[in-house]
Amino acid sequence: MSVASGQRRTWIVLGASSSVGRAFSRQAAAGGSDVILAGRDTDDLQRTAADVALRANCRADVVYFDAESTKDHAKFVDDCMRRGGPMDVFLLFGAMPEQQAIDQDFALALQTIGVNYVGAVSVLSRLVPHLEAQGGGRVVVLSSVAGDRGRLKNYVYGSAKGALNLYLQGLRARLARSNVSVTTVKAGFLDTDMSYGMPGLFLVAPPEACAKACLELSAKGREVAYFPRFWWAIMTIIKSIPERIFKRLSI
Ligand SMILES: NC(=O)c1ccc[n+]([C@@H]2O[C@H](COP(=O)([O-])OP(=O)(O)OC[C@H]3O[C@@H](n4cnc5c(N)ncnc54)[C@H](OP(=O)(O)O)[C@@H]3O)[C@@H](O)[C@H]2O)c1
Repeated sequence: MSVASGQRRTWIVLGASSSVGRAFSRQAAAGGSDVILAGRDTDDLQRTAADVALRANCRADVVYFDAESTKDHAKFVDDCMRRGGPMDVFLLFGAMPEQQAIDQDFALALQTIGVNYVGAVSVLSRLVPHLEAQGGGRVVVLSSVAGDRGRLKNYVYGSAKGALNLYLQGLRARLARSNVSVTTVKAGFLDTDMSYGMPGLFLVAPPEACAKACLELSAKGREVAYFPRFWWAIMTIIKSIPERIFKRLSI
């Protein structure tokens, strides 16, 4: 079954309680899509859904989703698909405990990998057969420049994002055969709850601009992009520093 042109589409927003997720939901709805807001705080999501539905005159549903509870992901996907129609996916949930805290508590390392990598692979694996059956669609994932190189200050989080980026490369090849695009957005610093109060941030980007970029990049079928774009230059320099020097830097 391929996607009939002109059929109303639905964006599944995984991590919809974040400021980028809320902005993305509003923008996608304004562009003529319905939305499913997925996350753990369903009271908060219900308020966003009511606001989105009112402003855009669209359908906005809320479905409970916990990235760490992988045993429930098949049911989560069934609940989404029961709503019918072609789906697109925006995945942006993530967790970034401080590296020092992770160093002292392996449970936090497991949680970081569990949310950012295992949770993402789990839910995408369950969504993929439906996207293939649609014969068209879009997946966009908000990842991080942290996945480009292991750094002293956040190497467990970075390793999870790096693994996610590799997974998405393979998924892109698989889904290209079904006319489904997979866009990896590697973000630099964003002005969100995750980065609030963190020292040493620079050139921090607003969540609305990030949401807009994710929508536009996926509409263009872009494979991998940095947001904001100048992070490409910064990461090219960071990746070129020899390991023997890089390991001495406190970044
Ligand atoms: N902030 C930055 O500087 C920055 C830079 C590069 C990349 N990123 C990435 O951007 C994405 C969005 O993050 P953000 O900056 O907007 O931070 P945020 O406001 O903290 O948002 C994180 C989102 O992930 C959700 N989440 C966390 N653990 C979850 C779990 N177990 N199950 C389901 N949802 C879970 C949160 O939901 P709850 O409300 O339920 O906690 C929230 O919606 C993340 O993947 C992050 O790694 C952020």
